[in-house]
Amino acid sequence: MVERTLVLIKPDAVSRGLVGEIVSRLERKGLTFEAMVMRTMDEQLADEHYAEHLEKAFYPPLKAFMISGPLVAAIVSGDQAVSVVRGLVGATDGRAAAAGTIRGDLSLSNRENLVHASDSAESAEREIKLWFPEH
Ligand code: PPS
Repeated sequence: MVERTLVLIKPDAVSRGLVGEIVSRLERKGLTFEAMVMRTMDEQLADEHYAEHLEKAFYPPLKAFMISGPLVAAIVSGDQAVSVVRGLVGATDGRAAAAGTIRGDLSLSNRENLVHASDSAESAEREIKLWFPEH
């Protein structure tokens, strides 16, 4: 079943020069980039994007990090794209993520963990509307 998912290549990935590596891993899997833009999140977009986490203790530092610099937002599509991308990205905490995943290979943090990927088809459609209202 072809699905769409929202991928954010986070500010740490941009500043570390890992955008190409991350895009390449997703493309080599056979996924398609339908849209892509570089922009800096503002506070309002952060609060909307992370609506389910607003009250969590980790949200203030997460928000500060996510608005700290430019990121790359993309719509990625393919067969079962939501779960396939989550698998390629790996577990939230880079220290625990499996080797072979993006976070497992390239991150040592649960905040600066390089990539956000929608966690369900419903989240994906909500997040795509926020980031790419024209899609
Ligand atoms: S939850 O509560 O299980 O739904 O949270 P989780 O999916 O593990 O993480 C949701 C996002 O919060 C980020 N996160 C953190 N940021 C900063 N500090 C800490 N301690 C922290 N723990 C989790 C995590 O990277 C997730 O970001 P996204 O953009 O969704 O990948």
